[in-house]
Formats: sequence, C-alpha cells, structure tokens
Amino acid sequence: MTAGSAIRLILMGPPGCGKGTQAKMLEERFGIVHLSTGDILRAAVREDTEVGTKAKAIMDRGELVPDDIIVGVMKDRVRSDDCANGYILDGFPRTLVQAAALDRMMAEMSQPLTAAVALAVPDDEVVRRLAGRRQCSKCDAGYHVEFNPSSKDGVCDTCGGALYRRDDDNEETIRQRLAVYHEQTAPVIEYYRERNSLIEVQGVGSIEEIFESMCSLIDRRIGNG
Ligand code: AP5
Repeated sequence: MTAGSAIRLILMGPPGCGKGTQAKMLEERFGIVHLSTGDILRAAVREDTEVGTKAKAIMDRGELVPDDIIVGVMKDRVRSDDCANGYILDGFPRTLVQAAALDRMMAEMSQPLTAAVALAVPDDEVVRRLAGRRQCSKCDAGYHVEFNPSSKDGVCDTCGGALYRRDDDNEETIRQRLAVYHEQTAPVIEYYRERNSLIEVQGVGSIEEIFESMCSLIDRRIGNG
C-alpha cells in the first residue's frame, strides 16, 4: 500500500460509545494500527513517566489532558514505521486545537485523512456501559458485568488474570467525562462535518451490527463498496 492509499481513520464519540471495541475490529479488518490516546496515557501512568505523572490526576477527575502534551505524544506516534499503512485514531482529536494540530501533522506528512467516524450513543447508555465495564489486568480482555460477564466473577476467562474496574469508571467521573465530551469534543464532530470528512454511525445495537454498518460506509468512502 502506498502512503496515498493507506487508510487513516479517526474514531470519535462519547466515553463508552464503543471506540475501543470497534477500533480493535477495524484494526483486524483493514490491517492498520489502532492508536488509543487513553491506552497510551494509561501505559504512561503505569510506567511512571513524566507524561504519566502529569496525566494521572487529570484522567481520574474525568478532564482532558492539556493539548500540548497529547499533540506532542501523537506527533511522534503517527510518524512511526508501523503507521505507514494507515491507522485508526481512537480518542484523538478531542478538542478543536487538537484537530487543527492533526491537520497540520497530516499535511506535513502528505497523509490525507480517509474519514472521521462518529459513533452516537445516548448518555444513559454510556453510564450503563462504563459502570459495568471490567478489564483483565493481565491480557487486557474486556468484559461487562451485565452484557458480557466472565464465567467466574472477577476472573478472566482467557488467561485467569484478575479483572479490574478503571479508576475513571465510577458514576461521578463518568458524568464529568460526558460533560467534557459535550462541551469540548462535540464541536470536533462539526469540524469534520464541515470538511465533508464525517461518517455518522448509530452506536446502539449489537457490536457486530454496528461494525458492519460502519465498514460498509467506510468501504463506500474508499471506493470498495
Ligand atoms: P479513553 O480511554 O479514550 O476513554 P473514553 O473516551 O472515555 O472512552 P472509553 O475507553 O471509556 O470507552 P470506549 O468508547 O473505548 O468504549 P469501549 O469500547 O471500551 O480516555 C480516558 C481519559 O484519557 C480521558 O478522560 C482523558 O482524561 C484522557 N484522554 C484521552 N485522550 C485524550 C485526548 N485526545 N486529549 C486529552 N485527554 C485525553 O466500550 C465500553 C463498554 O461498553 C465495554 O464494556 C464494552 O464491552 C461495552 N460495549 C461496547 N459496544 C457495545 C454495544 N454495542 N452494546 C453494549 N455494550 C457495548
């Protein structure tokens, strides 16, 4: 694949709309790298790096890490060799400042954007999904206490690791993340709509149905559908 035909996607939507779930499936389907700013920041917190130290308290409050930090992290990441065939940006950009910075980065690298995909999910559904989300501390497999429970409470079916709840998945922080989303990230959806780059997908329904409708819209955009 040449730089011009690579697929470069942005996956947007409120917290818990299924960005991570769908991005892993898109990664496999299109053979492109999944870059989640949330995962990158949580890894920095675990590794106790300078970025991690700055980000931890902000993330726990449900607020956004400053634009200069996140743009700096992503600028290096999208230039890596594994991004040459394309990528899915999960959770970036989240502000208009980040969107403008991404435009500049992509223009500098002559990397056109394929599409910005926005998943729509109502706030109450977000709270239900996130309050019940559990993750494996060893293999990172995802579960949900109601929709996708592990066979044994608190234990991963795949590797036997202990399941945990993310620090920011309590109801108070989820509501704060939603407020931040509506105020700072929803305008970014309009930014891509104005540039004719937006694909809107209904994020309620089965994971497979959502994935299929998203893929058919992406295929149409890249001329495969
Ligand atoms: P981040 O990790 O990106 O969190 P988020 O946007 O709040 O999104 P989540 O990871 O919580 O949810 P998701 O949409 O990936 O849903 P998932 O697939 O897991 O960011 C965390 C923090 O980092 C931010 O708050 C901020 O502080 C900081 N940050 C990150 N990026 C930043 C940036 N660019 N700028 C500044 N700060 C930044 O699904 C959720 C649950 O629902 C799962 O249990 C799943 O199994 C279930 N589920 C999924 N799909 C369905 C379905 N169709 N039906 C039923 N259940 C479903």
